[in-house]
Amino acid sequence: MRKVLFVTGNNGKFREAKDILANKGIEVLQETGGYPEIQEDDLEPIAAYGAKWASEELKMPVMVDDSGLFIWALNGFPGPYSAFVEERLGNQKTLKLMEGESNRRATFKSVIGYCEPGEEAFVFTGTVEGQIAYEERGTGGFGYDPIFEYQGQTFGEMEDEEKNKVSHRRRALDKFFEWLE
Ligand code: IMP
Repeated sequence: MRKVLFVTGNNGKFREAKDILANKGIEVLQETGGYPEIQEDDLEPIAAYGAKWASEELKMPVMVDDSGLFIWALNGFPGPYSAFVEERLGNQKTLKLMEGESNRRATFKSVIGYCEPGEEAFVFTGTVEGQIAYEERGTGGFGYDPIFEYQGQTFGEMEDEEKNKVSHRRRALDKFFEWLE
């Protein structure tokens, strides 16, 4: 069985990637050591830099996942700053920023970076379009899941298995898997 080392401290991301890739015969192992996150407007260079840095540091092939929630009415905010905003504001205050907004469109994006030592990194992007809910709903998933609505249900209201069929992460991992094959 092929194995991939996933450098992430986020257990939600790890659990999802593990389940998605297990279905394709790949075992995902977690390394929580982390990597420096450079400041960029797009997620791709952040994931590429992180994967390259971690593969050199660990001297092993690694994957990383840089993700973000892009809210249309907020001109794409929090985007690459999603982790910072989640920590400082959380879902309730993010919903406050959306008070009075009728345009609820949002895009969830996940960029998988993969790198082997001495090589350049490859990136694989997945997105899913949805809506920002008016209140938190559901206790499943992690992070912004309770406020991100996809076809009437928030990701927080879905079982992992359902979310994993349609999520940004699933779409990025599908591309990564095709490339690996
Ligand atoms: P980063 O990828 O570590 O920079 O963090 C992205 C931020 O978005 C973190 O706050 C994550 O918890 C959040 N996030 C990433 N993917 C998801 C997801 O699938 N559902 C909900 N929140 C997510």
